[in-house]
Amino acid sequence: LNTEKPVNERLLNICELLETHIPYYNWVGFYFRNGKKEELILGPYVGAPTDHTVIPFGKGICGQVAVSNQNFVVPDVTAQDNYIACSITVKAEIVVPIFVNGENIGQIDIDSNTPDPFTEKDERFLEYVCAQVATILN
Ligand code: SME
Repeated sequence: LNTEKPVNERLLNICELLETHIPYYNWVGFYFRNGKKEELILGPYVGAPTDHTVIPFGKGICGQVAVSNQNFVVPDVTAQDNYIACSITVKAEIVVPIFVNGENIGQIDIDSNTPDPFTEKDERFLEYVCAQVATILN
């Protein structure tokens, strides 16, 4: 990726690459902590537009990852009580936190229209992607 490009353009390129090349990645986006506030703000994404541009810590899968600092793999979104639906086509979700200097500063969020598609390979791969993103943001 071109290091001259603005950060948001590079993050959007990452979303586009993932959505294009992995058939069961159907919505790919970033959420970032809003300064010192306990809320997430939607960053670059590809896929259906979402109303959820601000997510309080603790709310939905994304808000829970902001608090837990751990990957959250959801094989079946209908089985989750604390879930924010963005589109009725979504069957599964994976959220992986991004750490900069040990601090959880945001996350990558991926929705799938395929039921139960995510494996540990996705987790390891997305951890790697998040580590790369951290170097862009640092
Ligand atoms: N489903 C997420 C909300 C973000 S949308 O998937 C884009 C959640 O429950 O946190």
